[in-house]
Amino acid sequence: MSIRTNYEKWYEGDDYYWGLEPGDFLYELIRLCPPSPGTKVLDIGCGEGKDAVYMAEKGYKVSAFDLTENGIRKSVSLAKNRGVEINAYVDDINTFEINEQFDIIYSTGTVQYLFEENKDSFFEKLEKITRRNGIVYINVFVEKPFLELPPDWDKEEKMWRSGELFTHFADWKIERIDEIIFEDNSGGIPHYHCMDTIVCRKV
Ligand SMILES: C[S@@+](CC[C@H](N)C(=O)[O-])C[C@H]1O[C@@H](n2cnc3c(N)ncnc32)[C@H](O)[C@@H]1O
Repeated sequence: MSIRTNYEKWYEGDDYYWGLEPGDFLYELIRLCPPSPGTKVLDIGCGEGKDAVYMAEKGYKVSAFDLTENGIRKSVSLAKNRGVEINAYVDDINTFEINEQFDIIYSTGTVQYLFEENKDSFFEKLEKITRRNGIVYINVFVEKPFLELPPDWDKEEKMWRSGELFTHFADWKIERIDEIIFEDNSGGIPHYHCMDTIVCRKV
């Protein structure tokens, strides 16, 4: 079993570390690319599967991967309990290979696990595996000189530079970009994050 991130341990129990409420951003993605038969979604760093399972319930054909075996085990069992199927498997954002295309690709809270040397190949892969007119949603934690590193920051995580994410999609149609600072209580100690988000379309 991989012990590269703390998440393996955090996902061990029966409780869902991130809860079961789907991410708000999914409503925006559904509006931009509504489900029809065969509409395919990829969730990169799916955690315990709350978002992947929600998208399957909405009628998308969902693939999802995460580095943690516990996360994938719980994603599969959540799908089963909800009466849907997802293709969930263990893989690494740094090295994954996929030979199919998707209509929606999203990754939330995970891209900071990309090693610096894999960034360019990651964005090349994304371009290849997104269908024409498909949507990509990514958010990433960025550093600001006035914010401290969060107390539960993982040893493998790497803050990005503010705005860096957006530069990788200069040739795409930008649907939305933003940067927000928000308070978080994960790990039991209140702290702040700064996060950049992009929603864009391959045209
Ligand atoms: C902040 S959590 C977000 C989980 C999920 N997207 C959600 O919103 O519930 C970050 C996720 O990235 C996963 N992760 C960490 N390193 C990874 C890697 N190298 N490849 C794939 N997933 C990774 C962790 O296991 C964890 O589930």
